[in-house]
Amino acid sequence: MLEPPKVAAAVADAKVHNPSVRRRLSVMNFLNEVAADYPLAVSFASGRPAEAFFELDTWLEGIPRYFDHLASRDGRSADEVARLVGQYGRTNGLINDLVAMQLLADDGVRCRAENIVITAGCQEALALCVQALCVQPGDVVLTRNPTYIGITGVATLADVDLVALDEGAGSVAEAIGRAARTLAAQGRRARALYLIPSFDNPTGATLSQTERLAILDVCQRYRIVVLEDNPYGMFRYEGEAAPSMATLDQHGVVVYLGTYSKTLCPAVRIGCAVVPETLFGDAGASRALLDDLGMRKSFVTVNSSQLNQALVGGVLLAEQCSLERLVAPARHHYRIHRDHLLGRLAAEFPNGCGVSWNRPEGGFFLTLELPFAFGQEQVSHCAENYQVIPLPMSFLALDGSQDRRVRMAFSNVSEAQIDAGVSRFADFVRETVAATPG
Ligand SMILES: Cc1ncc(COP(=O)(O)O)c(C=O)c1O
Repeated sequence: MLEPPKVAAAVADAKVHNPSVRRRLSVMNFLNEVAADYPLAVSFASGRPAEAFFELDTWLEGIPRYFDHLASRDGRSADEVARLVGQYGRTNGLINDLVAMQLLADDGVRCRAENIVITAGCQEALALCVQALCVQPGDVVLTRNPTYIGITGVATLADVDLVALDEGAGSVAEAIGRAARTLAAQGRRARALYLIPSFDNPTGATLSQTERLAILDVCQRYRIVVLEDNPYGMFRYEGEAAPSMATLDQHGVVVYLGTYSKTLCPAVRIGCAVVPETLFGDAGASRALLDDLGMRKSFVTVNSSQLNQALVGGVLLAEQCSLERLVAPARHHYRIHRDHLLGRLAAEFPNGCGVSWNRPEGGFFLTLELPFAFGQEQVSHCAENYQVIPLPMSFLALDGSQDRRVRMAFSNVSEAQIDAGVSRFADFVRETVAATPG
């Protein structure tokens, strides 16, 4: 059961002026500093995509292709289009038609171009959605715990309470129902649920289709908007793909958040929010949300860089609006790295040695469970004395429940770095266990 005092504690803690929250939000700076102080240390902390797959030269050359497309679409000359692209642009985006086709081809998300807001990466989409949805004082965002630091930051800066689901031994859907009821009893409202259903950041976990359907059901019942964040959906290494929640959504529960940061590269800073045709069956509410997102965006980034949109548009045209061909080599590379990391962990920790880990079906991350607490002090110690930097899961947690867990990112480390990093971390673990009394 999610007891009221627990919710209250998580909520009270989530204000930006609270020192522990400020500390929570500055953990990434801390990690960057540690990595800069120990440049020879192998870092498993950063979940950046591998640069080997950035084809910026080719992608930049594709910009005129997009100009030609726009010229023939709008009956203008290519020169005129090129000048217009250099101008301020439509707030909700320029390349929405191509993005709609790509979302359908690659993520199974069926939507009209008009229902898409093109954003400066998924991060802006998150910020806009949280602010647009949580407008009353008691409105909160539910999230799994640990969670992506980006939602913690967005909610905190917007002064919106983020409430950790208490999953216990039960299901996510049950935890949502409990949280919704508890909040309602306190006169507050669970307004949105932030979720990464496929290859979660930070845990690497994936929700089954049954779990997704149960979550949609409970969210529809309590009128909770699901913010489905899907940056890793195209990076599945094994197992059968569960449809995205937006694909399964029959009742207008899901706002789908996409990004080209992992499929192309983060520098494009292009993502999107897709609002369902009817929000909980209400077309007016859907239109109002779209208008609200656009209004907010017009005072934050005005519009997403049209030059960057033209670059993405050029790639989408070249790839017939599916990134499958482009992503395939990167996916292969990440799978090999995941397998290599799993293999090294099994070799270094035979019979577990009190250490266990999950096997993510895709994405960039896995979770290690340790027999002792691993926090800021331990990560500094590891960097200095063992030349390895894993990410303490407590940095991404909303309470103290994650102190013995670590996130290992395998997306941007070479196989040689994985070998060295895991072996050094295993030395640290063995020595720590040996030095622990009892
Ligand atoms: C789960 C998740 N959501 C959103 C983002 C941010 O993506 P973007 O670069 O599109 O802002 C990331 C980046 O790592 C992420 O892991």
